Amino acid sequence: MLKGIFPIEKFKALETPFYYYDVELLKRTLETVKKESGKYGYHVHYAVKANANPRLLSIIAGYGLGADCVSGGEIQAALDAGFPASKIVYAGVGKADWEINLGLDNDIFCFNVESAAELEIVNELAAAKNKVASIALRINPEVDAHTHAKITTGMKENKFGINLSQLGQVLDRLGELPHVKLIGIHCHIGSQITDMAAFRALAIRVNEIQEELEARGVQVENLNFGGGLGIDYYHPNHLPIPAFDNYFAVFNQLLQLRPGQQVHFEPGRSIVAQCGSLIAKVLYVKIGETKKFCILDAGFTELIRPAMYDAYHRIENLSSDEEVEVYDVVGPICESSDVFGKDMELNRAHRGDLIALRSAGAYGEVMASQYNCRKLPKAFYSDCL
Ligand code: LLP
Repeated sequence: MLKGIFPIEKFKALETPFYYYDVELLKRTLETVKKESGKYGYHVHYAVKANANPRLLSIIAGYGLGADCVSGGEIQAALDAGFPASKIVYAGVGKADWEINLGLDNDIFCFNVESAAELEIVNELAAAKNKVASIALRINPEVDAHTHAKITTGMKENKFGINLSQLGQVLDRLGELPHVKLIGIHCHIGSQITDMAAFRALAIRVNEIQEELEARGVQVENLNFGGGLGIDYYHPNHLPIPAFDNYFAVFNQLLQLRPGQQVHFEPGRSIVAQCGSLIAKVLYVKIGETKKFCILDAGFTELIRPAMYDAYHRIENLSSDEEVEVYDVVGPICESSDVFGKDMELNRAHRGDLIALRSAGAYGEVMASQYNCRKLPKAFYSDCL
Protein backbone atom coordinates (compact mmCIF):
# COMPACT_ATOMS: atom_id res chain seq x y z
CA MET A 1 0.00 0.00 0.00
CA LEU A 2 1.13 3.49 -0.92
CA LYS A 3 1.21 4.87 2.57
CA GLY A 4 3.62 2.12 3.59
CA ILE A 5 6.54 4.08 2.21
CA PHE A 6 6.23 6.65 5.00
CA PRO A 7 7.00 6.05 8.72
CA ILE A 8 3.69 7.55 9.81
CA GLU A 9 4.02 6.65 13.50
CA LYS A 10 7.31 8.53 13.65
CA PHE A 11 5.84 11.47 11.75
CA LYS A 12 3.21 11.88 14.47
CA ALA A 13 5.88 13.00 16.92
CA LEU A 14 7.26 15.70 14.61
CA GLU A 15 6.19 19.30 14.25
CA THR A 16 4.71 19.93 10.80
CA PRO A 17 5.27 21.12 8.14
CA PHE A 18 8.61 19.47 7.34
CA TYR A 19 10.49 17.93 4.46
CA TYR A 20 11.08 14.21 4.52
CA TYR A 21 13.82 12.69 2.39
CA ASP A 22 14.01 9.03 1.39
CA VAL A 23 17.79 8.67 1.55
CA GLU A 24 17.70 5.15 0.19
CA LEU A 25 15.91 6.33 -2.98
CA LEU A 26 18.38 9.19 -3.38
CA LYS A 27 21.25 6.71 -3.17
CA ARG A 28 19.66 4.35 -5.70
CA THR A 29 19.12 7.32 -8.02
CA LEU A 30 22.76 8.35 -7.66
CA GLU A 31 23.93 4.78 -8.35
CA THR A 32 21.86 4.81 -11.55
CA VAL A 33 23.30 8.17 -12.61
CA LYS A 34 26.83 6.91 -12.01
CA LYS A 35 26.21 3.70 -13.89
CA GLU A 36 24.48 5.26 -16.90
CA SER A 37 26.82 8.24 -17.30
CA GLY A 38 29.82 5.99 -16.63
CA LYS A 39 28.98 3.90 -19.72
CA TYR A 40 30.15 6.78 -21.89
CA GLY A 41 32.60 8.50 -19.53
CA TYR A 42 30.27 11.51 -19.13
CA HIS A 43 30.81 13.97 -16.26
CA VAL A 44 27.85 14.84 -14.06
CA HIS A 45 27.68 18.05 -12.01
CA TYR A 46 24.68 18.11 -9.68
CA ALA A 47 22.71 21.39 -10.03
CA VAL A 48 22.85 22.67 -6.44
CA LYS A 49 19.96 25.06 -7.08
CA ALA A 50 17.54 22.12 -7.05
CA ASN A 51 18.24 21.39 -3.40
CA ALA A 52 21.11 22.74 -1.32
CA ASN A 53 20.24 20.86 1.88
CA PRO A 54 23.70 20.16 3.39
CA ARG A 55 22.96 16.51 4.23
CA LEU A 56 21.78 15.80 0.68
CA LEU A 57 24.72 17.71 -0.80
CA SER A 58 27.21 15.64 1.15
CA ILE A 59 25.54 12.39 0.07
CA ILE A 60 25.67 13.52 -3.55
CA ALA A 61 29.30 14.64 -3.23
CA GLY A 62 30.06 11.20 -1.78
CA TYR A 63 29.11 9.62 -5.09
CA GLY A 64 31.85 11.57 -6.83
CA LEU A 65 29.61 13.99 -8.72
CA GLY A 66 30.67 17.55 -9.44
CA ALA A 67 28.52 20.60 -8.67
CA ASP A 68 26.81 23.13 -10.92
CA CYS A 69 26.48 26.42 -9.03
CA VAL A 70 24.75 29.70 -9.82
CA SER A 71 25.96 31.91 -6.98
CA GLY A 72 28.80 32.43 -4.56
CA GLY A 73 26.58 30.98 -1.85
CA GLU A 74 26.14 27.80 -3.85
CA ILE A 75 29.88 27.55 -4.54
CA GLN A 76 30.50 27.82 -0.79
CA ALA A 77 27.76 25.28 0.02
CA ALA A 78 29.24 22.86 -2.53
CA LEU A 79 32.77 23.26 -1.14
CA ASP A 80 31.50 22.84 2.44
CA ALA A 81 29.70 19.64 1.44
CA GLY A 82 32.89 18.17 0.00
CA PHE A 83 32.55 18.75 -3.74
CA PRO A 84 36.07 19.31 -5.10
CA ALA A 85 36.61 22.74 -6.67
CA SER A 86 38.02 20.95 -9.70
CA LYS A 87 34.50 19.66 -10.43
CA ILE A 88 32.58 22.91 -9.85
CA VAL A 89 31.06 24.78 -12.78
CA TYR A 90 29.59 28.22 -12.23
CA ALA A 91 26.82 29.70 -14.41
CA GLY A 92 24.53 32.71 -14.03
CA VAL A 93 23.75 35.88 -15.97
CA GLY A 94 24.57 38.15 -13.05
CA LYS A 95 27.77 37.07 -11.36
CA ALA A 96 28.87 39.69 -8.81
CA ASP A 97 32.56 40.48 -8.40
CA TRP A 98 32.86 38.77 -5.01
CA GLU A 99 31.29 35.65 -6.50
CA ILE A 100 33.72 35.57 -9.41
CA ASN A 101 36.57 36.14 -6.96
CA LEU A 102 35.39 33.22 -4.82
CA GLY A 103 35.50 30.99 -7.90
CA LEU A 104 38.94 32.29 -8.84
CA ASP A 105 40.34 31.87 -5.33
CA ASN A 106 39.20 28.26 -5.30
CA ASP A 107 40.33 27.53 -8.86
CA ILE A 108 36.95 26.11 -9.88
CA PHE A 109 36.81 23.98 -13.01
CA CYS A 110 34.91 26.43 -15.19
CA PHE A 111 32.99 29.71 -15.36
CA ASN A 112 30.07 29.41 -17.74
CA VAL A 113 30.17 32.93 -19.15
CA GLU A 114 26.84 34.31 -20.31
CA SER A 115 27.70 37.64 -22.00
CA ALA A 116 30.45 39.68 -23.62
CA ALA A 117 30.24 42.12 -20.71
CA GLU A 118 30.82 39.35 -18.17
CA LEU A 119 33.80 38.06 -20.14
CA GLU A 120 35.58 41.40 -19.67
CA ILE A 121 35.02 41.36 -15.91
CA VAL A 122 36.15 37.75 -15.43
CA ASN A 123 39.31 38.64 -17.39
CA GLU A 124 39.86 41.77 -15.28
CA LEU A 125 39.35 40.04 -11.93
CA ALA A 126 41.55 37.09 -12.96
CA ALA A 127 44.27 39.54 -14.07
CA ALA A 128 44.18 41.20 -10.65
CA LYS A 129 44.99 37.80 -9.13
CA ASN A 130 47.49 36.94 -11.81
CA LYS A 131 45.39 33.94 -12.78
CA VAL A 132 43.85 32.57 -15.95
CA ALA A 133 40.17 31.65 -15.54
CA SER A 134 38.91 28.59 -17.38
CA ILE A 135 35.70 29.52 -19.11
CA ALA A 136 32.99 27.99 -21.25
CA LEU A 137 30.73 30.15 -23.35
CA ARG A 138 27.10 29.61 -22.51
CA ILE A 139 25.44 29.64 -25.86
CA ASN A 140 21.75 30.18 -26.35
CA PRO A 141 21.11 27.35 -28.80
CA GLU A 142 17.59 28.44 -29.81
CA VAL A 143 16.17 25.01 -29.13
CA ASP A 144 12.62 24.92 -27.79
CA ALA A 145 12.35 22.71 -24.72
CA HIS A 146 8.53 22.52 -24.95
CA THR A 147 8.20 22.95 -21.22
CA HIS A 148 6.60 25.60 -18.97
CA ALA A 149 7.43 29.11 -20.24
CA LYS A 150 8.83 30.13 -16.84
CA ILE A 151 11.44 27.36 -16.96
CA THR A 152 12.40 27.63 -20.64
CA THR A 153 15.86 29.08 -21.09
CA GLY A 154 17.18 28.25 -24.54
CA MET A 155 15.17 30.62 -26.74
CA LYS A 156 16.17 34.00 -28.21
CA GLU A 157 13.88 35.91 -25.89
CA ASN A 158 15.39 34.39 -22.73
CA LYS A 159 18.05 36.30 -20.81
CA PHE A 160 20.42 33.35 -20.69
CA GLY A 161 23.51 32.71 -22.76
CA ILE A 162 25.14 34.31 -25.77
CA ASN A 163 23.05 34.48 -28.94
CA LEU A 164 24.34 32.44 -31.84
CA SER A 165 24.48 35.54 -34.01
CA GLN A 166 26.88 37.25 -31.56
CA LEU A 167 29.16 34.29 -31.02
CA GLY A 168 31.70 35.39 -33.62
CA GLN A 169 32.20 38.78 -31.97
CA VAL A 170 32.63 37.23 -28.54
CA LEU A 171 35.19 34.74 -29.86
CA ASP A 172 37.18 37.54 -31.48
CA ARG A 173 37.28 39.46 -28.23
CA LEU A 174 38.17 36.33 -26.28
CA GLY A 175 41.32 35.97 -28.34
CA GLU A 176 42.46 39.38 -27.04
CA LEU A 177 41.96 38.61 -23.35
CA PRO A 178 44.97 36.90 -21.76
CA HIS A 179 43.36 36.01 -18.41
CA VAL A 180 40.54 33.82 -19.72
CA LYS A 181 40.98 30.49 -21.43
CA LEU A 182 38.19 28.96 -23.48
CA ILE A 183 37.79 25.32 -22.47
CA GLY A 184 34.24 24.58 -23.54
CA ILE A 185 30.78 25.47 -24.62
CA HIS A 186 27.69 25.23 -22.45
CA CYS A 187 23.96 25.07 -23.22
CA HIS A 188 20.88 24.61 -21.07
CA ILE A 189 17.49 24.69 -22.75
CA GLY A 190 15.07 24.39 -19.85
CA SER A 191 13.78 22.20 -17.09
CA GLN A 192 11.23 19.39 -16.59
CA ILE A 193 11.76 18.16 -20.15
CA THR A 194 10.18 14.78 -20.70
CA ASP A 195 10.26 14.61 -24.48
CA MET A 196 13.66 13.32 -25.62
CA ALA A 197 13.13 15.11 -28.95
CA ALA A 198 14.25 18.36 -27.30
CA PHE A 199 17.53 16.79 -26.21
CA ARG A 200 17.99 15.26 -29.66
CA ALA A 201 17.55 18.71 -31.18
CA LEU A 202 20.08 20.09 -28.69
CA ALA A 203 22.69 17.44 -29.52
CA ILE A 204 22.26 18.10 -33.25
CA ARG A 205 22.47 21.87 -32.73
CA VAL A 206 25.68 21.51 -30.75
CA ASN A 207 27.18 19.46 -33.60
CA GLU A 208 26.39 22.40 -35.89
CA ILE A 209 27.83 24.91 -33.42
CA GLN A 210 31.02 22.87 -33.23
CA GLU A 211 31.36 23.08 -36.99
CA GLU A 212 30.92 26.82 -36.89
CA LEU A 213 33.56 27.08 -34.19
CA GLU A 214 35.97 24.94 -36.14
CA ALA A 215 35.42 27.04 -39.22
CA ARG A 216 36.77 29.89 -37.09
CA GLY A 217 39.71 27.75 -35.97
CA VAL A 218 38.29 27.23 -32.47
CA GLN A 219 38.36 23.83 -30.80
CA VAL A 220 36.94 23.15 -27.35
CA GLU A 221 37.68 20.29 -25.03
CA ASN A 222 34.39 20.31 -23.11
CA LEU A 223 30.75 20.21 -24.13
CA ASN A 224 28.23 20.88 -21.36
CA PHE A 225 24.54 20.22 -21.99
CA GLY A 226 23.15 21.60 -18.74
CA GLY A 227 20.28 19.85 -16.99
CA GLY A 228 16.59 19.56 -17.67
CA LEU A 229 15.64 15.89 -17.55
CA GLY A 230 12.07 15.76 -16.25
CA ILE A 231 10.37 13.46 -13.75
CA ASP A 232 6.90 11.90 -13.46
CA TYR A 233 5.00 14.11 -11.00
CA TYR A 234 1.80 12.11 -11.56
CA HIS A 235 3.21 8.69 -10.63
CA PRO A 236 5.99 9.18 -8.10
CA ASN A 237 5.91 5.54 -7.03
CA HIS A 238 5.80 4.00 -10.45
CA LEU A 239 9.26 4.76 -11.83
CA PRO A 240 10.84 6.96 -9.16
CA ILE A 241 14.21 6.92 -10.90
CA PRO A 242 14.09 8.84 -14.20
CA ALA A 243 15.25 7.17 -17.41
CA PHE A 244 18.88 8.27 -17.27
CA ASP A 245 19.70 5.40 -19.65
CA ASN A 246 17.60 6.91 -22.47
CA TYR A 247 18.79 10.40 -21.70
CA PHE A 248 22.52 9.73 -21.92
CA ALA A 249 21.97 7.37 -24.89
CA VAL A 250 20.50 10.24 -26.92
CA PHE A 251 23.75 12.18 -26.63
CA ASN A 252 25.87 9.11 -27.21
CA GLN A 253 23.98 8.34 -30.41
CA LEU A 254 23.95 11.82 -31.85
CA LEU A 255 27.01 13.73 -30.73
CA GLN A 256 29.93 13.97 -33.09
CA LEU A 257 32.72 14.15 -30.57
CA ARG A 258 36.23 15.14 -31.48
CA PRO A 259 39.10 13.08 -30.07
CA GLY A 260 39.57 13.69 -26.35
CA GLN A 261 36.40 15.76 -26.01
CA GLN A 262 34.64 15.54 -22.63
CA VAL A 263 30.87 15.67 -22.16
CA HIS A 264 29.24 17.25 -19.09
CA PHE A 265 25.71 17.42 -17.67
CA GLU A 266 24.07 19.39 -14.86
CA PRO A 267 21.00 17.47 -13.67
CA GLY A 268 19.17 18.80 -10.64
CA ARG A 269 15.51 17.83 -10.50
CA SER A 270 16.03 14.32 -11.87
CA ILE A 271 18.38 13.49 -9.00
CA VAL A 272 16.50 14.87 -5.99
CA ALA A 273 12.82 15.44 -6.85
CA GLN A 274 11.36 12.04 -6.10
CA CYS A 275 13.20 11.42 -2.83
CA GLY A 276 11.54 14.39 -1.10
CA SER A 277 8.03 14.98 0.21
CA LEU A 278 6.59 17.91 2.08
CA ILE A 279 4.64 16.60 5.06
CA ALA A 280 1.89 18.83 6.41
CA LYS A 281 -1.13 18.54 8.70
CA VAL A 282 -4.75 19.34 8.03
CA LEU A 283 -5.74 22.34 10.12
CA TYR A 284 -9.34 22.64 9.00
CA VAL A 285 -11.80 21.21 6.54
CA LYS A 286 -13.93 24.08 5.39
CA ILE A 287 -17.15 23.35 3.58
CA GLY A 288 -17.90 26.24 1.24
CA GLU A 289 -20.96 26.80 -0.89
CA THR A 290 -19.51 25.14 -3.97
CA LYS A 291 -16.22 23.75 -2.75
CA LYS A 292 -14.64 21.81 0.05
CA PHE A 293 -11.32 23.21 1.19
CA CYS A 294 -8.67 21.16 2.89
CA ILE A 295 -6.57 23.76 4.69
CA LEU A 296 -3.03 22.68 5.53
CA ASP A 297 -0.42 24.09 7.87
CA ALA A 298 1.98 24.29 4.88
CA GLY A 299 1.65 26.90 2.18
CA PHE A 300 3.59 28.35 -0.70
CA THR A 301 6.18 29.46 1.82
CA GLU A 302 7.20 25.79 2.05
CA LEU A 303 6.48 24.71 -1.56
CA ILE A 304 6.04 27.47 -4.10
CA ARG A 305 5.93 25.39 -7.31
CA PRO A 306 2.12 25.13 -7.63
CA ALA A 307 1.65 28.89 -7.05
CA MET A 308 4.56 29.94 -9.24
CA TYR A 309 4.41 27.51 -12.16
CA ASP A 310 0.95 25.95 -11.83
CA ALA A 311 2.91 22.80 -11.07
CA TYR A 312 1.17 19.59 -10.16
CA HIS A 313 2.26 17.69 -7.05
CA ARG A 314 0.52 14.50 -6.07
CA ILE A 315 -1.18 14.91 -2.69
CA GLU A 316 -1.89 11.99 -0.39
CA ASN A 317 -3.72 11.74 2.91
CA LEU A 318 -1.47 9.48 4.98
CA SER A 319 -3.89 9.24 7.89
CA SER A 320 -7.12 8.22 6.21
CA ASP A 321 -8.39 5.19 4.33
CA GLU A 322 -11.89 6.59 4.11
CA GLU A 323 -13.61 7.13 0.81
CA VAL A 324 -12.15 9.58 -1.64
CA GLU A 325 -13.53 13.12 -1.72
CA VAL A 326 -12.70 16.14 -3.84
CA TYR A 327 -11.01 19.12 -2.19
CA ASP A 328 -9.19 22.28 -3.06
CA VAL A 329 -6.03 21.75 -1.04
CA VAL A 330 -4.78 25.13 0.17
CA GLY A 331 -2.31 26.70 2.58
CA PRO A 332 -2.67 29.33 5.30
CA ILE A 333 -0.89 32.19 3.51
CA CYS A 334 -2.87 35.38 2.93
CA GLU A 335 -2.78 35.18 -0.86
CA SER A 336 -5.33 33.57 -3.14
CA SER A 337 -2.54 31.88 -5.09
CA ASP A 338 -1.72 29.79 -2.01
CA VAL A 339 -3.29 26.69 -3.50
CA PHE A 340 -1.55 23.33 -3.81
CA GLY A 341 -4.18 21.81 -6.02
CA LYS A 342 -7.76 22.37 -7.10
CA ASP A 343 -10.27 19.51 -7.23
CA MET A 344 -7.81 17.02 -5.80
CA GLU A 345 -8.98 13.56 -4.83
CA LEU A 346 -8.06 12.75 -1.28
CA ASN A 347 -9.17 10.16 1.24
CA ARG A 348 -11.69 11.97 3.45
CA ALA A 349 -9.77 14.51 5.50
CA HIS A 350 -10.04 15.45 9.18
CA ARG A 351 -8.23 17.94 11.36
CA GLY A 352 -4.82 16.52 12.28
CA ASP A 353 -4.45 14.19 9.30
CA LEU A 354 -0.95 13.97 7.86
CA ILE A 355 -0.71 14.97 4.22
CA ALA A 356 2.19 14.24 1.84
CA LEU A 357 2.94 16.52 -1.11
CA ARG A 358 5.02 14.25 -3.26
CA SER A 359 7.97 14.79 -5.62
CA ALA A 360 9.00 17.88 -3.68
CA GLY A 361 12.71 17.14 -3.31
CA ALA A 362 13.65 19.53 -6.12
CA TYR A 363 12.95 23.28 -5.93
CA GLY A 364 10.98 22.70 -2.72
CA GLU A 365 12.91 23.26 0.52
CA VAL A 366 15.45 25.41 -1.29
CA MET A 367 12.78 27.86 -2.49
CA ALA A 368 11.08 28.17 0.91
CA SER A 369 10.54 31.69 2.24
CA GLN A 370 9.60 33.35 5.49
CA TYR A 371 6.76 35.41 4.05
CA ASN A 372 4.11 36.10 6.70
CA CYS A 373 6.94 35.71 9.28
CA ARG A 374 6.74 31.97 9.01
CA LYS A 375 9.45 29.55 10.15
CA LEU A 376 11.53 27.79 7.53
CA PRO A 377 10.66 24.09 7.37
CA LYS A 378 12.89 21.51 9.02
CA ALA A 379 14.11 18.40 7.24
CA PHE A 380 14.12 14.77 8.38
CA TYR A 381 15.74 11.78 6.73
CA SER A 382 14.58 8.19 6.35
CA ASP A 383 17.82 6.80 7.78
CA CYS A 384 17.87 8.85 11.00
CA LEU A 385 14.33 9.35 12.23
N1 LLP B 1 21.92 24.02 -15.43
C1 LLP B 1 21.44 25.28 -15.59
C2 LLP B 1 22.27 26.27 -16.26
C3 LLP B 1 20.17 25.60 -15.11
O1 LLP B 1 19.71 26.84 -15.28
C4 LLP B 1 19.38 24.63 -14.47
C5 LLP B 1 18.05 24.94 -13.94
C6 LLP B 1 19.92 23.32 -14.32
C7 LLP B 1 21.19 23.06 -14.82
C8 LLP B 1 19.18 22.21 -13.65
O2 LLP B 1 18.03 21.90 -14.31
P1 LLP B 1 17.15 20.62 -13.89
O3 LLP B 1 17.97 19.38 -14.18
O4 LLP B 1 16.85 20.72 -12.43
O5 LLP B 1 15.96 20.73 -14.73
N2 LLP B 1 12.39 26.31 -10.02
C9 LLP B 1 11.94 25.66 -11.25
C10 LLP B 1 13.08 25.12 -12.06
C11 LLP B 1 14.12 26.15 -12.42
C12 LLP B 1 15.29 25.58 -13.17
C13 LLP B 1 16.36 26.58 -13.33
N3 LLP B 1 17.54 26.10 -13.97
C14 LLP B 1 10.93 24.58 -10.89
O6 LLP B 1 10.61 24.43 -9.73
O7 LLP B 1 10.42 23.89 -11.78
